Amino acid sequence: MSPHSRIATGKLVDRGNLSGLPIPVVTRRDFLAASAGAALVLPQIVSAEAIATDSGPFQATGTRVGEVTENSAIVWTRLTKHSQRNNDGVEFAKKVDRKSDPPTVPPVAQIEGACPGMAGRVRLRYGLKSDLSDATATDWIDVTEATDFIHQFKLSGLKPDSTYHYVSQTAVGDNSPGQEFRGKFFTAPIPTMPSSFRFCVMTCQGYPDRDHKDGHPIYPSMLALEPKFVTMTGDLVYYDSNEPRAVTPALARLHWERMFSLPRLVAMMRNASSYWLKDDHDTLTNDSWPGMKAGELTFAEGQTIFQQQAPIGKQSYRTFRWGHDLQIWFTDGRDFRSPNKVPDGPEKTIWGAEQKAWFKRTVQESDATWKLLISPTPLVGPDRQNKNDNHSNIGFAHEGDEIREWLKANVPDNFFVVCGDRHWQYHSVHPTAGTQEFSVGAASNSHAGGTPGEDKTYHRFHRVKGGFLSVDLRREGQQSQIVFQLRDVNGVVGYEAKFNRAVS
Ligand SMILES: [Fe+2]
Repeated sequence: MSPHSRIATGKLVDRGNLSGLPIPVVTRRDFLAASAGAALVLPQIVSAEAIATDSGPFQATGTRVGEVTENSAIVWTRLTKHSQRNNDGVEFAKKVDRKSDPPTVPPVAQIEGACPGMAGRVRLRYGLKSDLSDATATDWIDVTEATDFIHQFKLSGLKPDSTYHYVSQTAVGDNSPGQEFRGKFFTAPIPTMPSSFRFCVMTCQGYPDRDHKDGHPIYPSMLALEPKFVTMTGDLVYYDSNEPRAVTPALARLHWERMFSLPRLVAMMRNASSYWLKDDHDTLTNDSWPGMKAGELTFAEGQTIFQQQAPIGKQSYRTFRWGHDLQIWFTDGRDFRSPNKVPDGPEKTIWGAEQKAWFKRTVQESDATWKLLISPTPLVGPDRQNKNDNHSNIGFAHEGDEIREWLKANVPDNFFVVCGDRHWQYHSVHPTAGTQEFSVGAASNSHAGGTPGEDKTYHRFHRVKGGFLSVDLRREGQQSQIVFQLRDVNGVVGYEAKFNRAVS
Protein backbone atom coordinates (compact mmCIF):
# COMPACT_ATOMS: atom_id res chain seq x y z
CA MET A 1 0.00 0.00 0.00
CA SER A 2 1.20 3.45 -0.74
CA PRO A 3 2.15 5.87 2.02
CA HIS A 4 -0.40 8.40 3.18
CA SER A 5 0.05 12.04 2.46
CA ARG A 6 -1.24 15.25 3.89
CA ILE A 7 -2.40 17.84 1.40
CA ALA A 8 -4.31 21.07 1.58
CA THR A 9 -5.99 22.16 -1.59
CA GLY A 10 -9.20 23.79 -2.72
CA LYS A 11 -10.85 27.05 -1.80
CA LEU A 12 -13.20 28.31 0.81
CA VAL A 13 -16.59 28.75 -0.68
CA ASP A 14 -19.33 31.19 0.25
CA ARG A 15 -22.52 30.13 -1.35
CA GLY A 16 -24.62 33.05 -0.24
CA ASN A 17 -28.06 32.94 1.25
CA LEU A 18 -30.65 30.91 -0.56
CA SER A 19 -33.48 31.91 1.73
CA GLY A 20 -36.63 33.51 0.42
CA LEU A 21 -36.85 31.31 -2.64
CA PRO A 22 -40.16 29.57 -3.12
CA ILE A 23 -38.60 26.17 -3.78
CA PRO A 24 -35.17 24.86 -2.80
CA VAL A 25 -32.63 25.66 -5.48
CA VAL A 26 -28.96 25.23 -6.15
CA THR A 27 -28.24 27.67 -8.92
CA ARG A 28 -25.55 27.35 -11.57
CA ARG A 29 -23.86 30.31 -9.90
CA ASP A 30 -23.80 28.42 -6.59
CA PHE A 31 -22.31 25.47 -8.33
CA LEU A 32 -19.69 27.56 -10.07
CA ALA A 33 -18.81 29.25 -6.80
CA ALA A 34 -18.60 25.92 -5.02
CA SER A 35 -16.37 24.41 -7.65
CA ALA A 36 -14.13 27.46 -8.08
CA GLY A 37 -10.60 26.37 -8.72
CA ALA A 38 -11.56 22.80 -9.48
CA ALA A 39 -11.40 21.41 -13.00
CA LEU A 40 -14.93 20.09 -13.05
CA VAL A 41 -17.46 19.77 -15.79
CA LEU A 42 -20.63 21.66 -14.93
CA PRO A 43 -23.25 19.06 -14.10
CA GLN A 44 -26.91 19.35 -14.89
CA ILE A 45 -28.15 20.28 -11.44
CA VAL A 46 -31.86 19.87 -11.01
CA SER A 47 -33.37 22.94 -9.43
CA ALA A 48 -36.73 24.65 -9.11
CA GLU A 49 -39.51 24.30 -11.63
CA ALA A 50 -42.81 26.08 -12.05
CA ILE A 51 -45.44 25.17 -9.50
CA ALA A 52 -48.37 23.73 -11.40
CA THR A 53 -50.85 24.55 -8.71
CA ASP A 54 -51.56 26.98 -5.94
CA SER A 55 -53.58 24.55 -3.88
CA GLY A 56 -51.34 21.50 -3.59
CA PRO A 57 -50.48 18.86 -2.93
CA PHE A 58 -46.91 20.11 -2.69
CA GLN A 59 -43.61 18.36 -1.99
CA ALA A 60 -41.84 20.60 0.51
CA THR A 61 -39.88 17.64 1.87
CA GLY A 62 -38.51 16.84 -1.59
CA THR A 63 -37.57 13.37 -2.76
CA ARG A 64 -34.97 10.81 -1.64
CA VAL A 65 -33.59 8.05 -3.82
CA GLY A 66 -32.05 5.07 -2.10
CA GLU A 67 -30.78 1.48 -2.40
CA VAL A 68 -29.60 2.05 -5.96
CA THR A 69 -28.15 -0.99 -7.74
CA GLU A 70 -27.23 -1.54 -11.39
CA ASN A 71 -30.92 -1.98 -12.22
CA SER A 72 -33.10 -0.85 -9.32
CA ALA A 73 -33.81 2.05 -6.97
CA ILE A 74 -36.30 3.26 -4.39
CA VAL A 75 -37.73 6.74 -4.91
CA TRP A 76 -39.23 8.31 -1.78
CA THR A 77 -42.01 10.87 -2.14
CA ARG A 78 -44.19 12.75 0.33
CA LEU A 79 -47.16 15.03 -0.24
CA THR A 80 -47.33 18.24 1.79
CA LYS A 81 -50.01 20.80 2.43
CA HIS A 82 -47.78 23.80 1.74
CA SER A 83 -45.14 24.57 -0.86
CA GLN A 84 -42.64 25.55 1.82
CA ARG A 85 -41.66 24.44 5.27
CA ASN A 86 -43.03 26.58 8.10
CA ASN A 87 -40.28 29.18 8.19
CA ASP A 88 -42.17 31.44 10.58
CA GLY A 89 -42.99 28.85 13.22
CA VAL A 90 -41.93 28.58 16.85
CA GLU A 91 -38.19 28.15 17.28
CA PHE A 92 -36.43 26.54 20.21
CA ALA A 93 -33.30 27.57 22.03
CA LYS A 94 -30.23 25.45 21.35
CA LYS A 95 -29.74 24.76 25.04
CA VAL A 96 -32.59 24.64 27.53
CA ASP A 97 -32.74 23.78 31.19
CA ARG A 98 -35.45 21.18 31.05
CA LYS A 99 -35.78 20.93 34.82
CA SER A 100 -36.15 24.56 35.75
CA ASP A 101 -37.56 25.92 32.50
CA PRO A 102 -38.96 23.18 30.25
CA PRO A 103 -39.88 24.46 26.79
CA THR A 104 -43.53 24.76 25.87
CA VAL A 105 -44.23 22.67 22.79
CA PRO A 106 -47.01 23.99 20.53
CA PRO A 107 -48.92 21.79 18.03
CA VAL A 108 -46.38 20.30 15.60
CA ALA A 109 -47.58 22.28 12.57
CA GLN A 110 -46.78 25.53 14.41
CA ILE A 111 -43.13 24.59 14.95
CA GLU A 112 -40.44 26.12 12.75
CA GLY A 113 -39.61 23.72 9.91
CA ALA A 114 -42.87 21.75 10.09
CA CYS A 115 -44.18 20.42 6.79
CA PRO A 116 -47.66 19.01 7.42
CA GLY A 117 -48.61 16.26 5.00
CA MET A 118 -51.58 16.17 2.65
CA ALA A 119 -53.60 13.23 1.42
CA GLY A 120 -53.68 12.79 -2.34
CA ARG A 121 -52.18 10.81 -5.18
CA VAL A 122 -48.67 10.51 -6.46
CA ARG A 123 -47.00 8.86 -9.42
CA LEU A 124 -43.51 8.82 -10.82
CA ARG A 125 -42.41 9.30 -14.40
CA TYR A 126 -38.80 8.32 -15.03
CA GLY A 127 -36.48 7.80 -17.94
CA LEU A 128 -33.05 8.36 -19.42
CA LYS A 129 -33.85 11.63 -21.19
CA SER A 130 -33.85 14.83 -19.19
CA ASP A 131 -37.03 16.01 -20.95
CA LEU A 132 -38.64 12.69 -19.93
CA SER A 133 -39.81 12.09 -23.51
CA ASP A 134 -38.94 8.40 -23.01
CA ALA A 135 -40.45 8.21 -19.53
CA THR A 136 -42.11 5.21 -17.98
CA ALA A 137 -45.00 6.10 -15.66
CA THR A 138 -45.93 4.23 -12.51
CA ASP A 139 -49.54 3.84 -11.42
CA TRP A 140 -51.08 6.59 -9.34
CA ILE A 141 -50.78 5.76 -5.64
CA ASP A 142 -53.05 7.11 -2.89
CA VAL A 143 -51.22 8.41 0.17
CA THR A 144 -52.75 9.20 3.55
CA GLU A 145 -51.75 9.95 7.10
CA ALA A 146 -51.31 6.18 7.62
CA THR A 147 -47.89 6.40 5.92
CA ASP A 148 -47.17 10.03 6.89
CA PHE A 149 -48.25 10.86 3.28
CA ILE A 150 -45.14 9.03 2.04
CA HIS A 151 -44.85 6.58 -0.82
CA GLN A 152 -41.66 4.76 -1.78
CA PHE A 153 -41.63 3.70 -5.44
CA LYS A 154 -39.59 0.56 -6.06
CA LEU A 155 -38.16 0.83 -9.56
CA SER A 156 -36.67 -2.16 -11.36
CA GLY A 157 -35.43 -3.01 -14.85
CA LEU A 158 -33.20 0.07 -14.97
CA LYS A 159 -30.19 0.40 -17.24
CA PRO A 160 -26.79 0.10 -15.49
CA ASP A 161 -24.31 2.97 -15.29
CA SER A 162 -26.89 5.52 -16.41
CA THR A 163 -28.35 8.84 -15.35
CA TYR A 164 -32.05 8.60 -14.62
CA HIS A 165 -34.34 11.62 -14.57
CA TYR A 166 -37.68 11.61 -12.85
CA VAL A 167 -40.64 13.77 -12.02
CA SER A 168 -42.84 13.08 -9.03
CA GLN A 169 -46.38 14.17 -9.94
CA THR A 170 -49.15 14.80 -7.47
CA ALA A 171 -52.91 15.12 -7.69
CA VAL A 172 -55.88 15.43 -5.42
CA GLY A 173 -59.65 14.98 -5.52
CA ASP A 174 -60.92 14.80 -9.08
CA ASN A 175 -57.33 14.47 -10.25
CA SER A 176 -56.62 18.19 -10.28
CA PRO A 177 -52.83 18.35 -10.58
CA GLY A 178 -50.56 19.38 -7.76
CA GLN A 179 -46.88 20.26 -7.70
CA GLU A 180 -44.38 18.35 -9.79
CA PHE A 181 -40.93 17.72 -8.41
CA ARG A 182 -37.97 16.74 -10.55
CA GLY A 183 -34.77 14.93 -9.71
CA LYS A 184 -32.12 12.56 -10.97
CA PHE A 185 -29.90 9.70 -9.84
CA PHE A 186 -27.22 7.40 -11.21
CA THR A 187 -27.35 3.62 -11.46
CA ALA A 188 -24.35 1.45 -10.59
CA PRO A 189 -22.04 -0.07 -13.20
CA ILE A 190 -22.23 -3.86 -13.56
CA PRO A 191 -19.57 -5.98 -11.76
CA THR A 192 -17.49 -6.49 -14.90
CA MET A 193 -17.12 -2.76 -15.59
CA PRO A 194 -14.23 -0.72 -14.16
CA SER A 195 -15.25 1.48 -11.23
CA SER A 196 -14.47 5.12 -11.95
CA PHE A 197 -16.54 7.59 -9.95
CA ARG A 198 -16.80 9.51 -6.70
CA PHE A 199 -19.12 9.32 -3.72
CA CYS A 200 -19.38 11.16 -0.41
CA VAL A 201 -20.02 10.07 3.18
CA MET A 202 -21.50 12.26 5.94
CA THR A 203 -22.75 11.73 9.50
CA CYS A 204 -24.02 13.46 12.65
CA GLN A 205 -26.03 16.53 11.75
CA GLY A 206 -27.59 18.65 14.44
CA TYR A 207 -30.37 21.09 13.66
CA PRO A 208 -29.59 24.18 15.79
CA ASP A 209 -25.85 23.80 15.10
CA ARG A 210 -26.14 23.47 11.33
CA ASP A 211 -24.16 26.72 10.86
CA HIS A 212 -26.37 28.05 8.04
CA LYS A 213 -30.10 28.58 8.14
CA ASP A 214 -30.61 26.81 4.80
CA GLY A 215 -28.67 23.72 5.84
CA HIS A 216 -25.19 22.51 6.65
CA PRO A 217 -22.44 23.88 4.39
CA ILE A 218 -21.34 20.30 3.61
CA TYR A 219 -24.34 19.88 1.29
CA PRO A 220 -23.43 22.42 -1.41
CA SER A 221 -19.81 21.31 -0.95
CA MET A 222 -20.71 17.67 -1.61
CA LEU A 223 -23.02 18.55 -4.50
CA ALA A 224 -20.23 20.52 -6.18
CA LEU A 225 -18.14 17.33 -6.23
CA GLU A 226 -20.75 15.55 -8.36
CA PRO A 227 -20.95 12.39 -6.25
CA LYS A 228 -22.73 9.36 -7.72
CA PHE A 229 -24.26 8.92 -4.29
CA VAL A 230 -24.01 10.11 -0.70
CA THR A 231 -24.02 7.90 2.37
CA MET A 232 -26.09 9.26 5.24
CA THR A 233 -24.26 7.49 8.03
CA GLY A 234 -26.52 7.86 11.07
CA ASP A 235 -27.46 10.54 13.60
CA LEU A 236 -29.32 12.33 10.82
CA VAL A 237 -31.59 13.96 13.39
CA TYR A 238 -31.13 14.23 17.14
CA TYR A 239 -34.39 13.20 18.77
CA ASP A 240 -33.05 13.46 22.29
CA SER A 241 -30.80 16.50 22.25
CA ASN A 242 -32.37 18.95 19.77
CA GLU A 243 -35.52 20.67 20.98
CA PRO A 244 -38.33 19.80 20.99
CA ARG A 245 -37.38 16.34 22.20
CA ALA A 246 -39.04 13.53 20.26
CA VAL A 247 -41.15 11.99 23.00
CA THR A 248 -44.01 11.09 20.63
CA PRO A 249 -44.09 9.71 17.07
CA ALA A 250 -45.48 13.07 15.84
CA LEU A 251 -42.52 14.97 17.30
CA ALA A 252 -40.12 12.38 15.87
CA ARG A 253 -41.57 13.02 12.40
CA LEU A 254 -41.23 16.76 12.97
CA HIS A 255 -37.46 16.24 13.30
CA TRP A 256 -37.38 14.65 9.83
CA GLU A 257 -39.65 17.30 8.25
CA ARG A 258 -37.62 20.13 9.70
CA MET A 259 -34.21 18.76 8.72
CA PHE A 260 -34.94 17.38 5.29
CA SER A 261 -36.96 20.37 4.07
CA LEU A 262 -33.90 22.61 4.42
CA PRO A 263 -33.15 23.95 0.91
CA ARG A 264 -29.59 22.66 0.79
CA LEU A 265 -30.60 19.14 1.84
CA VAL A 266 -33.47 19.08 -0.65
CA ALA A 267 -31.05 20.13 -3.40
CA MET A 268 -28.62 17.35 -2.53
CA MET A 269 -31.28 14.66 -2.34
CA ARG A 270 -32.80 15.49 -5.73
CA ASN A 271 -29.44 15.47 -7.50
CA ALA A 272 -28.01 12.10 -6.44
CA SER A 273 -29.06 8.98 -4.61
CA SER A 274 -28.22 8.21 -1.01
CA TYR A 275 -27.75 5.17 1.23
CA TRP A 276 -29.16 5.60 4.72
CA LEU A 277 -28.01 4.13 8.02
CA LYS A 278 -29.53 4.77 11.40
CA ASP A 279 -27.79 5.23 14.71
CA ASP A 280 -28.87 5.98 18.26
CA HIS A 281 -30.10 9.60 18.06
CA ASP A 282 -32.25 9.04 14.96
CA THR A 283 -33.76 5.87 16.39
CA LEU A 284 -34.53 6.94 19.97
CA THR A 285 -31.88 8.33 22.34
CA ASN A 286 -28.14 8.44 23.00
CA ASP A 287 -26.56 4.95 23.01
CA SER A 288 -29.99 3.30 22.86
CA TRP A 289 -30.90 -0.38 22.36
CA PRO A 290 -34.08 -2.37 21.64
CA GLY A 291 -36.76 -2.20 24.31
CA MET A 292 -35.98 1.33 25.47
CA LYS A 293 -38.46 4.19 25.53
CA ALA A 294 -38.35 8.01 25.48
CA GLY A 295 -41.58 9.46 26.83
CA GLU A 296 -44.28 7.84 24.70
CA LEU A 297 -41.88 7.00 21.86
CA THR A 298 -40.71 3.39 21.83
CA PHE A 299 -37.55 2.01 20.26
CA ALA A 300 -39.75 -0.08 17.93
CA GLU A 301 -41.58 3.06 16.78
CA GLY A 302 -38.22 4.71 16.20
CA GLN A 303 -37.18 1.80 13.97
CA THR A 304 -40.45 2.03 12.00
CA ILE A 305 -40.20 5.79 11.59
CA PHE A 306 -36.62 5.55 10.29
CA GLN A 307 -37.67 2.96 7.74
CA GLN A 308 -40.51 5.22 6.65
CA GLN A 309 -38.45 8.42 6.41
CA ALA A 310 -35.44 6.86 4.71
CA PRO A 311 -35.59 5.39 1.19
CA ILE A 312 -34.64 1.89 2.31
CA GLY A 313 -36.06 -1.58 2.07
CA LYS A 314 -36.89 -3.95 4.89
CA GLN A 315 -33.34 -5.15 5.61
CA SER A 316 -31.26 -2.76 7.70
CA TYR A 317 -27.93 -4.40 6.72
CA ARG A 318 -27.12 -4.84 3.04
CA THR A 319 -24.36 -4.75 0.44
CA PHE A 320 -24.05 -3.02 -2.92
CA ARG A 321 -21.68 -3.57 -5.82
CA TRP A 322 -20.54 -0.55 -7.84
CA GLY A 323 -18.57 -2.02 -10.74
CA HIS A 324 -15.63 -4.42 -10.65
CA ASP A 325 -13.59 -2.45 -8.19
CA LEU A 326 -15.96 -1.60 -5.34
CA GLN A 327 -18.34 -3.40 -3.03
CA ILE A 328 -19.80 -1.65 0.01
CA TRP A 329 -21.30 -3.20 3.12
CA PHE A 330 -23.74 -1.12 5.17
CA THR A 331 -24.23 -2.56 8.63
CA ASP A 332 -26.85 -1.88 11.28
CA GLY A 333 -25.75 -1.18 14.82
CA ARG A 334 -29.08 -0.81 16.64
CA ASP A 335 -31.59 -3.52 15.68
CA PHE A 336 -29.69 -6.55 16.99
CA ARG A 337 -27.52 -5.22 19.79
CA SER A 338 -27.23 -6.42 23.36
CA PRO A 339 -27.94 -3.84 26.05
CA ASN A 340 -24.79 -1.75 26.50
CA LYS A 341 -24.80 -2.41 30.26
CA VAL A 342 -24.47 -6.21 29.90
CA PRO A 343 -20.93 -7.41 30.84
CA ASP A 344 -18.72 -8.09 27.80
CA GLY A 345 -18.25 -11.66 26.61
CA PRO A 346 -18.68 -13.97 23.60
CA GLU A 347 -22.46 -13.53 23.56
CA LYS A 348 -22.48 -9.74 23.75
CA THR A 349 -23.09 -8.28 20.33
CA ILE A 350 -23.78 -5.19 18.28
CA TRP A 351 -24.34 -6.92 14.94
CA GLY A 352 -26.16 -10.05 16.08
CA ALA A 353 -25.34 -13.58 14.87
CA GLU A 354 -27.19 -13.39 11.55
CA GLN A 355 -25.75 -10.07 10.43
CA LYS A 356 -22.25 -11.20 11.43
CA ALA A 357 -22.56 -14.45 9.46
CA TRP A 358 -23.96 -12.56 6.45
CA PHE A 359 -21.08 -10.07 6.63
CA LYS A 360 -18.35 -12.72 6.74
CA ARG A 361 -19.94 -14.84 4.02
CA THR A 362 -20.53 -11.98 1.58
CA VAL A 363 -17.13 -10.37 2.15
CA GLN A 364 -15.47 -13.72 1.40
CA GLU A 365 -17.60 -14.26 -1.70
CA SER A 366 -16.84 -10.85 -3.16
CA ASP A 367 -14.28 -10.48 -5.95
CA ALA A 368 -14.36 -6.66 -5.83
CA THR A 369 -10.95 -4.98 -5.96
CA TRP A 370 -11.83 -2.86 -2.90
CA LYS A 371 -14.16 -3.77 -0.05
CA LEU A 372 -15.60 -1.07 2.16
CA LEU A 373 -17.58 -1.33 5.35
CA ILE A 374 -19.60 1.82 5.99
CA SER A 375 -20.69 1.58 9.61
CA PRO A 376 -22.74 4.00 11.72
CA THR A 377 -20.30 3.39 14.62
CA PRO A 378 -16.52 2.86 14.75
CA LEU A 379 -14.74 -0.47 14.68
CA VAL A 380 -11.25 0.88 15.36
CA GLY A 381 -11.50 4.23 17.15
CA PRO A 382 -9.93 5.02 19.56
CA ASP A 383 -12.83 6.47 21.46
CA ARG A 384 -13.32 7.99 24.90
CA GLN A 385 -12.72 5.66 27.87
CA ASN A 386 -16.16 6.40 29.31
CA LYS A 387 -18.05 5.30 26.17
CA ASN A 388 -19.67 1.88 26.02
CA ASP A 389 -21.58 1.77 22.75
CA ASN A 390 -19.35 0.64 19.87
CA HIS A 391 -16.75 -1.92 18.79
CA SER A 392 -13.86 0.33 19.75
CA ASN A 393 -15.09 0.52 23.38
CA ILE A 394 -14.07 -1.88 26.16
CA GLY A 395 -17.72 -2.88 26.64
CA PHE A 396 -17.80 -4.53 23.19
CA ALA A 397 -14.14 -5.57 23.03
CA HIS A 398 -14.92 -9.25 22.50
CA GLU A 399 -16.93 -8.77 19.32
CA GLY A 400 -14.67 -5.91 18.22
CA ASP A 401 -11.61 -8.17 18.45
CA GLU A 402 -13.44 -11.00 16.72
CA ILE A 403 -14.34 -8.83 13.70
CA ARG A 404 -10.96 -7.07 13.48
CA GLU A 405 -9.07 -10.39 13.69
CA TRP A 406 -11.37 -11.92 11.09
CA LEU A 407 -10.67 -9.02 8.74
CA LYS A 408 -6.92 -9.39 9.32
CA ALA A 409 -7.08 -13.09 8.46
CA ASN A 410 -9.41 -12.81 5.47
CA VAL A 411 -9.06 -9.39 3.80
CA PRO A 412 -5.75 -7.93 5.01
CA ASP A 413 -4.99 -5.80 1.95
CA ASN A 414 -8.11 -4.37 0.37
CA PHE A 415 -10.62 -3.69 3.14
CA PHE A 416 -11.42 -0.35 4.79
CA VAL A 417 -13.89 0.85 7.38
CA VAL A 418 -15.61 4.21 7.05
CA CYS A 419 -17.52 5.21 10.16
CA GLY A 420 -20.03 7.75 11.35
CA ASP A 421 -20.93 8.60 14.95
CA ARG A 422 -17.72 10.25 16.10
CA HIS A 423 -17.68 14.05 15.89
CA TRP A 424 -14.10 14.37 14.74
CA GLN A 425 -12.18 13.25 11.66
CA TYR A 426 -9.46 10.64 11.58
CA HIS A 427 -7.64 7.93 9.71
CA SER A 428 -6.78 5.18 12.19
CA VAL A 429 -4.93 1.91 11.82
CA HIS A 430 -5.54 -0.61 14.59
CA PRO A 431 -2.16 -1.27 16.27
CA THR A 432 -2.47 -5.07 16.33
CA ALA A 433 -5.15 -6.05 13.79
CA GLY A 434 -4.13 -3.44 11.20
CA THR A 435 -7.78 -2.53 10.41
CA GLN A 436 -7.97 0.83 8.65
CA GLU A 437 -10.76 3.25 9.54
CA PHE A 438 -11.78 6.71 8.32
CA SER A 439 -14.08 8.75 10.57
CA VAL A 440 -15.89 11.33 8.46
CA GLY A 441 -16.53 13.83 11.28
CA ALA A 442 -19.55 15.81 12.32
CA ALA A 443 -21.61 17.56 9.62
CA SER A 444 -20.83 21.06 10.89
CA ASN A 445 -18.03 22.78 12.76
CA SER A 446 -20.37 23.65 15.63
CA HIS A 447 -21.16 19.95 16.05
CA ALA A 448 -17.52 18.84 16.19
CA GLY A 449 -15.83 17.79 19.45
CA GLY A 450 -15.58 14.94 21.96
CA THR A 451 -12.30 13.34 20.92
CA PRO A 452 -10.04 11.84 23.58
CA GLY A 453 -7.19 13.43 21.62
CA GLU A 454 -4.65 12.35 19.06
CA ASP A 455 -3.09 8.93 19.67
CA LYS A 456 -0.04 8.26 17.53
CA THR A 457 -0.37 4.51 18.03
CA TYR A 458 -3.58 4.68 15.97
CA HIS A 459 -3.85 7.95 14.11
CA ARG A 460 -2.41 8.70 10.71
CA PHE A 461 -4.55 11.82 10.79
CA HIS A 462 -6.73 13.40 13.46
CA ARG A 463 -8.55 16.71 13.75
CA VAL A 464 -11.57 18.11 15.52
CA LYS A 465 -13.51 19.68 12.70
CA GLY A 466 -16.78 19.28 10.85
CA GLY A 467 -16.75 18.00 7.30
CA PHE A 468 -17.24 14.89 5.22
CA LEU A 469 -15.36 12.20 3.32
CA SER A 470 -15.13 11.85 -0.44
CA VAL A 471 -13.99 8.60 -2.02
CA ASP A 472 -12.69 8.42 -5.58
CA LEU A 473 -12.31 5.25 -7.60
CA ARG A 474 -9.98 5.48 -10.58
CA ARG A 475 -8.91 2.87 -13.09
CA GLU A 476 -5.85 2.90 -15.29
CA GLY A 477 -5.35 -0.27 -17.28
CA GLN A 478 -5.19 -3.13 -14.80
CA GLN A 479 -4.59 -0.82 -11.82
CA SER A 480 -7.37 0.43 -9.64
CA GLN A 481 -6.86 3.31 -7.24
CA ILE A 482 -9.03 4.26 -4.29
CA VAL A 483 -8.58 7.72 -2.79
CA PHE A 484 -10.01 8.79 0.57
CA GLN A 485 -10.19 12.53 1.14
CA LEU A 486 -11.24 13.96 4.49
CA ARG A 487 -12.66 17.38 3.70
CA ASP A 488 -13.78 20.30 5.83
CA VAL A 489 -17.33 21.68 5.58
CA ASN A 490 -16.36 23.79 2.57
CA GLY A 491 -14.98 20.82 0.70
CA VAL A 492 -11.33 21.69 1.26
CA VAL A 493 -9.20 18.54 1.47
CA GLY A 494 -7.37 18.26 4.79
CA TYR A 495 -6.03 14.75 4.40
CA GLU A 496 -5.73 12.26 1.58
CA ALA A 497 -4.86 8.56 1.55
CA LYS A 498 -4.38 6.72 -1.77
CA PHE A 499 -4.17 2.98 -2.34
CA ASN A 500 -3.38 1.10 -5.55
CA ARG A 501 -4.12 -2.49 -6.42
CA ALA A 502 -3.86 -4.67 -9.49
CA VAL A 503 -7.26 -5.69 -10.80
CA SER A 504 -7.81 -9.44 -10.75
FE1 LIG B 1 -23.56 11.82 16.58
